[in-house]
Amino acid sequence: MNVTVLPSADAVADAAAAQVAAALTATRRPVLGLPTGRTPLAMFARLRAAGLDWRDVRTFNLDEFAGLAPDHTSSFHSYMDEQLFAAVNLPRGQIEFLRGDTADAAAECARYDRAIDAAGGIDLLVCGLGANGHIGFNEPGPVLWGATHLATLHEETRAANAAAFGGDAGAVPPHALTIGMTAILRARRILVLATGTSKAAAVAAMVSGPLTTALPASWLQVHGAVEVLLDPAAAAALEPALARR
Ligand code: GLP
Repeated sequence: MNVTVLPSADAVADAAAAQVAAALTATRRPVLGLPTGRTPLAMFARLRAAGLDWRDVRTFNLDEFAGLAPDHTSSFHSYMDEQLFAAVNLPRGQIEFLRGDTADAAAECARYDRAIDAAGGIDLLVCGLGANGHIGFNEPGPVLWGATHLATLHEETRAANAAAFGGDAGAVPPHALTIGMTAILRARRILVLATGTSKAAAVAAMVSGPLTTALPASWLQVHGAVEVLLDPAAAAALEPALARR
């Protein structure tokens, strides 16, 4: 993994936005994997302001809460509308999202994997990192799933997402649909963003811990083109030799 420690969370956002901007012109029909959460908010602010051309881009968001329709105010789809889609010229038909309100989760997950394949896979997948080491909503556990699937969220993950539900962790859906490890690890490039001390232990385990289903992000070590952008707080538990500063 190529790990870079930048001076601040703002610098992480600058670098991440620059990488996304470069990806938009690197191939003719770029396919992006996009995250939600607090970490990428500043990156999205920069992308909204950048005046980039999104006409030929296709996006796949990584996950969505089970049971929520796209227009639910707490859905990841609404988050993306606010943070990016409403502000750029990305055609609606090129925005791919898991339908949280599907009546048939298995069919919806299979549809999504087929759509990713049909798009030729993901060129640049941007992801955050859960404090417990999850990526997308691939949670720690006895097994990981390759395919897109319905995941059961850990209580700490529901608590971490409470802000979007009026601060009430109990209101966070207990399940989510998420792309699996296969679509993540087949992305041609992966950009991981992490900021703040709450991510420090997960970052260290992701970069240099054992490959384990107890820390899903550790499997990114097997990928040949992962770039990790950190602020000093998120890098605090890393061996100094493992990161460029
Ligand atoms: C959430 C999302 C992830 C996100 C992670 C970190 O639960 N499913 O896509 O990267 O957890 O979130 P945050 O950036 O708010 O810390």
